[in-house]
Amino acid sequence: MFQLTKRVAAIKAASNPLYSRRYKSWFADVKLAPPDPILGITEAFLKDKNPKKTNLGVGAYRDDDSKPWVLPSVKEAQNRVIAKNMNKEYAPIHGLADFYNKSVELALGKDSEILKNKCNATVQSLSGTGALRVGAAFLGLFWKGERVVYLPTPTWPNHKPIFMHSGLKVANYGYYDPNTRALNEQALFESLCKIPERSIVLLHACAHNPTGVDPNSEQWCEISHIMKSRHLYPFFDLAYLGFASGDIDRDAEAVRIFSAEGHQFALAQSYAKNMGLYGERVGSFTFVCSSKDEAERVTSNLKTIIRPMYSNPPVHGARIAIEIFKDEKLFCMWLDDLKTMATRTITMRKQLKETLVALGSKQSWDHITNQIGMFCYTGLKPEQVARLIKDYSIYMTKDGRIAVVGLTTKNVAYVAASIYAVTK
Ligand SMILES: Cc1ncc(COP(=O)(O)O)c(C=O)c1O
Repeated sequence: MFQLTKRVAAIKAASNPLYSRRYKSWFADVKLAPPDPILGITEAFLKDKNPKKTNLGVGAYRDDDSKPWVLPSVKEAQNRVIAKNMNKEYAPIHGLADFYNKSVELALGKDSEILKNKCNATVQSLSGTGALRVGAAFLGLFWKGERVVYLPTPTWPNHKPIFMHSGLKVANYGYYDPNTRALNEQALFESLCKIPERSIVLLHACAHNPTGVDPNSEQWCEISHIMKSRHLYPFFDLAYLGFASGDIDRDAEAVRIFSAEGHQFALAQSYAKNMGLYGERVGSFTFVCSSKDEAERVTSNLKTIIRPMYSNPPVHGARIAIEIFKDEKLFCMWLDDLKTMATRTITMRKQLKETLVALGSKQSWDHITNQIGMFCYTGLKPEQVARLIKDYSIYMTKDGRIAVVGLTTKNVAYVAASIYAVTK
């Protein structure tokens, strides 16, 4: 022991003092990263002492008492899972088959030819983010086309780093028109006609985040058509299946239009919003392939990506989803829960718009009810947002996006009056 200490002291004495001073820590050069813009809002909200404070920043459903809502169907499913007293062994690398097979079926439909022919390479994922991440990693390794992913302007802020971390470049395509607060159809179609062939295009399958603006059926058909003829690769992000309209088949329309037109595509699914399983991290990822054999080869490589990334997915949330999927009564209960969430959200949109009009606002607020899903892109300017936060304690992202799910019958009048005050 004494010998060893002496030897260490000798090494220290011999080493260059400048060298040891310069290398005080391995991480001395690491700079402070910017805080997450959305979590920062919640931090400021929690510190605020105003009793009227309202958090419209967070993308998580709240009930009419501003409380997180555990879906009754999920509660019942969870009770059944617990009653089974299952072990806690690892899931397979690709997750629980009873979960991911049903998950992709919900999106593609029961009669899907893709599923009948087993052309899907599907795995369980860590919610929607994990699904995007695994898909991006696969494309980073195997994509043979243009290595650029085109994202709509604007898009969910996490899309860019997810694809960049997989070694792909990102660029943008036209999507939203801030003047009309609706889809910029011309810019969208023009972009799709200009994007280099064999590029990847990310599409929000429904309830576009942050704008709440979705293409209609004809526009989806046109998008599918242009992308097919120009060999553009669709990567669907389906984070709100059933949550947007309360109807799964309706929300899956875009994906089904593309499958009917014979596209091969990627599909990231999340059960955070539509089952309220946010923290359970339940999702699935699918590549539509040209044959069963190709799907098997793709699946085997998805597994080699997942294994060193997180080894295998968590089981508890997926087991809850399986209970819901396999019991007809529980499944119907879930569909009702979806309707409850969608209906409350749509009602809040109406009340916000009607109250603004009743207050005498001269602006058009039609976009509030024309948009769909969890968010509304209000069109409020950054300075108006800043006033809403500072003077009225109403929190939202700087771009004027509000989580409509944070509105309640109790706070909507206050929110409308405050928006009116900063916009008149
Ligand atoms: C467009 C979009 N994609 C994906 C996700 C992924 O969410 P999660 O990883 O919680 O499933 C979200 C969540 O806000 C989203 O809005």
